[in-house]
Amino acid sequence: MINHSDLPLCEVCKSDISTNKIVVARGNPNASLMIIGEAPGAKEEEIGQPFVGRSGKLLDKLLINSGIDIALDVYFCNVVKYRPPKNRRPTKREIEENLPWLYQQIKLVDPDIVVLVGTTAVESILRIKTRISFLRGKWIKWEDKIVMPVFHPSYLLRNPSKEEGMPFALSQLDFLKVKEKMDHSEDSSNMSFL
Ligand code: URA
Repeated sequence: MINHSDLPLCEVCKSDISTNKIVVARGNPNASLMIIGEAPGAKEEEIGQPFVGRSGKLLDKLLINSGIDIALDVYFCNVVKYRPPKNRRPTKREIEENLPWLYQQIKLVDPDIVVLVGTTAVESILRIKTRISFLRGKWIKWEDKIVMPVFHPSYLLRNPSKEEGMPFALSQLDFLKVKEKMDHSEDSSNMSFL
């Protein structure tokens, strides 16, 4: 059992963390697709795995609907490995202190494709501040990976309409593009470069 006191965090951050548990990953460490979220929520902390609460169930649904095998093809993780108190967004400092762990995960899993779920993941990895509604669904070259930002499923839970052009339907199209890229990962056309 790893506990947050093992993380190289400053004393202020440690004292602010309400939990002892850290949440590292779920899925296949040899997967070709890595999904990176923000930080665990209450359910994730309880179970010890990322994306197992309501947001995670919705994310699983989008993946499965797209023909992606979540047990075989996907490795789920987060930028921050413990639950920020009161479900607040992680601070800049927490993100910077956790990033080396995430970089290690990326290096070890070495996925072909990375999906960045929500603003925190996008800003932490790509080091840019842009509206997610502008970036979502676009392929971006980052280091030796191809990366796609998508809406966070918690945003989709707050905007549940499945009508064409609405966030849920757009997200479903994004994951279909991900599946298509997984099936033809050598094709690097239509990509933006940052
Ligand atoms: N939201 C995230 O960003 N990550 C999780 O693991 C769960 C919810």
